[in-house]
Amino acid sequence: MILVTGGAGFIGTHACVELMQAGYEVVVVDNLVNSHEKSLDRVAMITGKRPLFFKVDVCDEKALNQVFDQCDIEGVIHFAGLKAVGESVQKPLEYYQNNLDADFVLCKVMKAHGVKNLVFSSSATVYSGDNEMPLNESSKTGNCTNPYGWTKYMGEQIFKGLCVADPELSIVLLRYFNPVGAHESGLIGEDPQGIPNNLMPYVSQVAIGKRDHLTVFGDDYDTPDGTGVRDYIHVVDLAKAHVLAVRYAAEHKGCEIFNIGTGNGSSVLDMVHAFEKASGKKVPYVVGPRRAGDLATVYAGTEKARKELGFVAQYDLERMCADSWRWQSMNPNGFEN
Ligand code: NAD
Ligand code: UD1
Repeated sequence: MILVTGGAGFIGTHACVELMQAGYEVVVVDNLVNSHEKSLDRVAMITGKRPLFFKVDVCDEKALNQVFDQCDIEGVIHFAGLKAVGESVQKPLEYYQNNLDADFVLCKVMKAHGVKNLVFSSSATVYSGDNEMPLNESSKTGNCTNPYGWTKYMGEQIFKGLCVADPELSIVLLRYFNPVGAHESGLIGEDPQGIPNNLMPYVSQVAIGKRDHLTVFGDDYDTPDGTGVRDYIHVVDLAKAHVLAVRYAAEHKGCEIFNIGTGNGSSVLDMVHAFEKASGKKVPYVVGPRRAGDLATVYAGTEKARKELGFVAQYDLERMCADSWRWQSMNPNGFEN
């Protein structure tokens, strides 16, 4: 059985689907601070089975121990964490405490139960801003611009250290690029609370008429159309990478890092146009100033994941937008419907 922390969230639900469809039994632990339990009913609609669920805070050692006592856990995927960059600048203590305590407590409880395999949600945000593109796993890290980024950086250090101390451990650090899209069923997807911080959920809320227009954060970057370029990856591709990572962890020891992206860069305006095409809706935009901390271009080197994990992203921009739009239009209020 695979324990999925944060399994009621955006990436977690998609990972549950792929794990269950690959034949794994899944148990979810989530405190629902940024998700709805209903998302797991939707997972059940897709897979025919609801994952076992415990409403537990990963930082609650006693409660987490009880989950491990009750379930035969062979490996863990650790998604649980707070992830809003801007909020992390306002509430650094909450971010450091939640995200790092979750790492500590999880590792302690895994150790107490002899569970050796872990896949951790890291981020391309751990790379420092002065690297050449594409970023590969040995590109420079650090110089994070916000507490959220530091929690991922520090999480990676902690997991690397644990693998040095215990050669029996197997930890896979996945550095995600920009996850977007939704499951093709339209039943699960990203359900941001309040004003979305990230581009794609904002664009889809403009398309559905919830917001007037998008503000493009700068059109004077050194990129083909002047707007920021990122490596958008379909969340179902990302979820599938987790199934490969779980298998990899079961077969290897030590700590290994993989970028999970497509290797392709798309600009803000590429995304707007692709979304307009997929939805048949206009996405009005105005150009505003650059957002502090943003880089012109970020995309992944994907060779290591291809060679060692066997991971290659399948879905293109058109598919990412079509699936986002299906989720958005079937669920204009997310899981609240
Ligand atoms: P999400 O907020 O949808 O999912 C995270 C889940 O963790 C939520 O369901 C939340 O309720 C839960 N959670 C938070 N703290 C918890 C705690 N202490 N105990 C139990 N549950 C807790 O976010 P997501 O987009 O699915 O991201 C999943 C992971 O991937 C996060 O660690 C995030 O930092 C990382 N990540 C996300 C992105 C992205 O763009 N979405 C990019 C890089 C890395
Ligand atoms: C953001 C986070 C990063 C996180 C990543 C994962 C910031 C500063 N960084 O990165 O830590 O790992 O998400 O998903 O938040 N844009 C607009 N208008 C908008 C929103 C975004 O023009 O309303 C532009 C941005 O300037 C950027 C691109 O769209 O060029 C993508 O932005 P976003 O979705 O926030 O992702 P990242 O900046 O890559």
